Amino acid sequence: MTPDRAATLISLCGLALAAGVLAAPGPVAAQEEPEVTEAGLARGEMFYQAHCGRCHGMLGQGGEGPSLARPTLPRAPDHESLVEVIRGGIPGTGMPGTRSNLVSDLEVDLIAAYVRTLAEDVVTEVAGDAERGQEVFASTGDCYSCHVVDGRGTGIGPELTGIGLRRGVDYLYASLRTPGSELPVSRRGILRGFRGYLPVRAVTREGRVITGMRVNEDAFTIQLRSISGRAVSLRKEDLVELEKQFDHSLMPAVEEMTEADIDDLVAFLADLGDGS
Ligand code: HEC
Ligand code: HEC
Repeated sequence: MTPDRAATLISLCGLALAAGVLAAPGPVAAQEEPEVTEAGLARGEMFYQAHCGRCHGMLGQGGEGPSLARPTLPRAPDHESLVEVIRGGIPGTGMPGTRSNLVSDLEVDLIAAYVRTLAEDVVTEVAGDAERGQEVFASTGDCYSCHVVDGRGTGIGPELTGIGLRRGVDYLYASLRTPGSELPVSRRGILRGFRGYLPVRAVTREGRVITGMRVNEDAFTIQLRSISGRAVSLRKEDLVELEKQFDHSLMPAVEEMTEADIDDLVAFLADLGDGS
């Protein structure tokens, strides 16, 4: 540890003790789980709601991100790894890091301590039957026609392997009941920051109608993947119409399914972990 960093830590701890949020006296090594007072947990909760709640749910029940109200977090089994995940995010996923000029080390410690307490509270119970859900997925739902799970299926939709680690139960219900309402955002390539799955309808000069998912786009061309999985590249000057359907999803609504089917599907999806 550089003298600078040590000085920062010591002054931080001084501040923390003065504010009555850390119970342990003296400097706290970054790796060790600091003992946090009730007041500290209350502040941790506040920081959590400000920085994490919109994705993980205000009660940690999950949403765009997975539930954190679980006895063990696979990617953050202890304090040190939890702090690392909060700081650095999980690269290549929808889990962002926090910049140190926005959130201090002390705040990260308090958030981590608060997250640990979530496990004691809500554990989202899933109503359905996961095994039956898998059958619905393969039969009535015909979900493998657009989604890959553990190497099975084809993919115009996002891969669902491990979806249970990435999304909360409410989000899963919403993506089935009102497709497109909860949309994954692309983190890669030129679509970075745009909606990840944008349905497009194009009409050529000859009157051919092509619908599919936008894969790539520049000023002169647009590349689509059709529902059947075929890749198509179109020159914009050949098109008479190019409609980007921002509020539309290619994922069909599950109208013909019963509530029980949906419960079972969600139970199946929520169970999809790292495959082990
Ligand atoms: C923009 C949405 C978003 C925000 C904000 C966010 N997260 Fe996440 N988080 C995610 C997503 C999505 C994942 C799942 C990443 C993956 O595996 O695809 C995740 C994963 C995690 C994990 C790993 C859980 C496991 O299964 O081991 C932890 C822990 C976590 N987040 C904690 C936090 C904390 C604490 C905050 C606030 C400081 C936070 N997140 C802010 C979206 C978010
Ligand atoms: C015609 C193709 C198609 C079919 C069939 C389909 N989906 Fe989708 N699905 C998509 C697309 C495309 C998305 C991306 C988001 C959007 O456009 O709504 C998606 C998104 C999702 C998501 C959200 C994934 C995430 O990470 O945010 C879930 C969950 C999901 N589908 C489950 C299912 C289930 C369960 C079935 C079967 C009942 C199914 N899908 C059938 C195309 C399909």
